[in-house]
Amino acid sequence: MPEEDKEGKQFHQDVPAKQDGFFLKGCNSLDWGIKNRLSQIFNPISGKTVMLAVDHGYFQGPTTGLERIDLNILPIAPYADTLMLTRGILRSTVPPSYTKGIVLRASGGPSILKELSNEGLAVDMEEAIRLNVSALAVQVFIGGEFESQSVLNMTRLVNQGMRYGIPTLAVTAVGKDMVRDARYFRLACRMCAELGAHYVKTYYIPKGFDTVTASCPVPIVMAGGKKMPEKDALVMCSKAIQEGAAGVDMGRNIFQSEAPKAMIQAVAKVVHENLPPKQAYEMYLDLK
Ligand code: R5P
Repeated sequence: MPEEDKEGKQFHQDVPAKQDGFFLKGCNSLDWGIKNRLSQIFNPISGKTVMLAVDHGYFQGPTTGLERIDLNILPIAPYADTLMLTRGILRSTVPPSYTKGIVLRASGGPSILKELSNEGLAVDMEEAIRLNVSALAVQVFIGGEFESQSVLNMTRLVNQGMRYGIPTLAVTAVGKDMVRDARYFRLACRMCAELGAHYVKTYYIPKGFDTVTASCPVPIVMAGGKKMPEKDALVMCSKAIQEGAAGVDMGRNIFQSEAPKAMIQAVAKVVHENLPPKQAYEMYLDLK
């Protein structure tokens, strides 16, 4: 039997309990579990995230820089806030002692040889819970051949995830022939958010990106896209953050860099500490 409790007096009646809002845009009405998982992705101090995307193999096989995730990616993973990957790579290659955020690729189907928008859901919720992931990612092809199918993949994932407190990241995929302008990205990002995505990944555009972030009621993370010179990639990151992005989800511009470890550290400084791109590039060169 525990000893009888002697009633304490520390009620602090004069100190009202803190009623903080949640730090992420549009996420205040979510439940505790989902907010907790989002906090494994976004740093609650800066409000931003550096996601390292290494899921390219789910439709294009061993992409340059990802031939050996154990050798190329694990050494730089500690510098990211979150890894974005498939369950195959997670189980086979990432040690379970890794405790940062995991965003699991949950859609798939076609290879690069076929129509990419013809995706289905490729992971179920039980598996996501078993793997203890922080969020699930699904591709949404607005304007694509299988547009509605991909949107409904997303809404299904949102519905299932809401039952268990697992957030959904909608990834806006742009077909090769589609115009990448602010009007398109406003449409795509807003649709994803309206239909329930908890945050959205989209591309940076030089004109009007701020209107894309402003008109999306949930956080937007910037996709990296094709490899470009490190200096340009850092400028793009900085502009995206200044224009309202809540972080980045970059792959090739990090793991295909001449010095991935230096590059990811420079990106993190831009994202979390607003380091100007010129200084970030100097930092990259020093570390390299
Ligand atoms: C989208 O198709 C996948 O999530 C990619 O693996 C990811 O967006 C690619 O990242 P990046 O374009 O920065 O290489």
